[in-house]
Amino acid sequence: MTSRKLVIAIDGPAASGKSTTARLVAARLGYLHVDTGAMYRAFALKVLRRNIAIGDRQGIESLVAGTHVALALQGDVLRVFLDGEDVSDAIRSPEVSRAVSPVSGYPEVRRAMVREQRLLGAAGGIVMDGRDIGTVVYPDADVKFFMVAGIEARARRRQEELTGTGTAIPLEAVVQDIRERDARDAGRAESPLRRADDAIDIDTSALTIEEQVEIVLKAVSGILQERRKR
Ligand code: CDP
Repeated sequence: MTSRKLVIAIDGPAASGKSTTARLVAARLGYLHVDTGAMYRAFALKVLRRNIAIGDRQGIESLVAGTHVALALQGDVLRVFLDGEDVSDAIRSPEVSRAVSPVSGYPEVRRAMVREQRLLGAAGGIVMDGRDIGTVVYPDADVKFFMVAGIEARARRRQEELTGTGTAIPLEAVVQDIRERDARDAGRAESPLRRADDAIDIDTSALTIEEQVEIVLKAVSGILQERRKR
């Protein structure tokens, strides 16, 4: 019987429910949750604060070397730290959402983040969500999911999240932001958003959070049972 803990990869487009699902699955399994989008967002926030132009590849790539992004669970909330400062709320601003896709497209930025992400999962026992987890970060993950949802459902969820943090944005504006970011994430040269060939598809449009979590946990428990038989 093997007791090795799994590496679980969850990828998908903006606001498809990856992070919420990943956090709850990790809590149920006693695994570490790594929200890689939050890591890229924290770095994009630093770029904005330093007033570095989004097109300044050299300026951005040299900044990443001296940057430390960390994730820590406080209660059941994942907090994000940029060079020691808690930036969990600041990284959700519309400005960061606009900057993060181009900033995270620079090769040196990806190299630095992917290196960190691989270290975090080296011992297994991890649920990592993002855009390139099953394709680039952990192509050998034990199980991969690709989460999608209709644009309406995604925009409504994102709008509710933003309202919760005190930012009121019309639904049409949220739809446009999500569409633009999806197109940029899928169309960029470096680590574009892509479904891994061996990923399990989950369409969350009509699912509750609990249902999404159950689908993932069922697949995971199937794999664990298989392994025990070997
Ligand atoms: O939560 P939401 O769906 O809005 O996105 P996120 O997971 O916070 O990711 C924010 C952005 O970071 C994405 O739109 C990508 O541009 C970038 N990202 C990436 O390039 N690679 C990842 N593994 C995760 C996020």
